[in-house]
Amino acid sequence: VVHLNGEAVFSCVTKVSRAADQKVVTIEGLSEKNDHPLQKAWIELDVPQCGYCQSGQIMSAAVLLRENKNPTDADIDAAMAGNICRCGTYLRIRSAIHLAAEMQRKVGRM
Ligand code: FES
Repeated sequence: VVHLNGEAVFSCVTKVSRAADQKVVTIEGLSEKNDHPLQKAWIELDVPQCGYCQSGQIMSAAVLLRENKNPTDADIDAAMAGNICRCGTYLRIRSAIHLAAEMQRKVGRM
């Protein structure tokens, strides 16, 4: 998942022509110092297993937290649907999103 004009899109099924001349943000562009609340929460809770899916998971979560400062489990599950993790880190992902939401509410960020 990347952000295409602020929208989360599955990069694996998005044609390059759709991204031409558009604003694309990848995990590397989420924060300059890798200090986004989601990145901090991911580290604090040791979310990744193999790591393959994790940048996409975080980018989807970033859109969710931009639009919903206090998501429920159901909100998270709906927003993250389609982000497959073969390692089954879904519960840690959900916990990290709750933690990141709490962090951003404390600092009024995002
Ligand atoms: Fe391995 Fe998600 S951490 S696929």
